[in-house]
Amino acid sequence: MKIFIDTANVNEIREASEMGIICGVTTNPSLIAREGRNFKEVVSEITEIVDGPISAEVISLESEGMVNEARDLAKIHDNIVIKIPMTVEGLKAVKILSQEGIDTNVTLVFSAAQALLAARAGATYVSPFIGRLDDIGAGGMPVVEDIAEIFAIHDIETEIIAASIRGPIHVSEAALAGAHIATIPFKVLMQLTKHPLTDRGIERFLKDWESVPK
Ligand code: E4P
Repeated sequence: MKIFIDTANVNEIREASEMGIICGVTTNPSLIAREGRNFKEVVSEITEIVDGPISAEVISLESEGMVNEARDLAKIHDNIVIKIPMTVEGLKAVKILSQEGIDTNVTLVFSAAQALLAARAGATYVSPFIGRLDDIGAGGMPVVEDIAEIFAIHDIETEIIAASIRGPIHVSEAALAGAHIATIPFKVLMQLTKHPLTDRGIERFLKDWESVPK
C-alpha cells in the first residue's frame, strides 16, 4: 500500500517528503481553507515538493462547471488529479475528463456500489471515507474490503485510496483490506513512527554505551 499525505500544509508535506514515506498528496476545500492562502498557489507549491499525484477538488455541483474547473486546475501541473464528488453530475464529469486523459479521484465515497459506479465512469482513484463512516457507527473498513474484492473480481484498475484516516490502526487495517493507497493526516503519520519500546530501546542503548571504554 502506498502512502499519501492528506493536508494542504506545505510545511507538513515537506517534512513527510523528507522522510521518504509519501508519494502523493490529497487536499480538499476544508484543508485548503485552513491554510488561508490562494488555492492555486498552494497546489502549485505542492507540485514542487512531491513528484506524484496531487489531488485538488472542484467546487461546482454541475458537471459543466466541474469540467471547466478541472481543465483549469490540470494546467497547473501534469501530476494534478481532479477530485470530484460522488454524484450524478460528478460521474458525468469523470466520464468527460477520463476521455480527455485527465486523472480523477472520486471523493466522498461511502459504499462499494458508489465505488463501482465511479470506476465504471472512468475514475483513476476512488476515496472511501473510513473515519466518517465509523463516526456514524456504519463501519468504514468493510467498505474498503468490499471495494477491493469487487475490483479484483472484475479486473478494475481504479485504485482505492483509503481516506478519512483517524489513527494508526486505520492504516494497517486499510493495507490488510486491500487499499492501494492510504491518505494520512500529518498527525497520524507522526503517530505511526512511534512505539514506546523503540524509545525505551534507544534509552537503554545510550545508557549501556556510557560504560564502553573510550
Ligand atoms: C480525502 O481525500 C479527504 O481529504 C480526507 O481524508 C477527509 O478526511 P476527514 O473525514 O478527516 O475530513
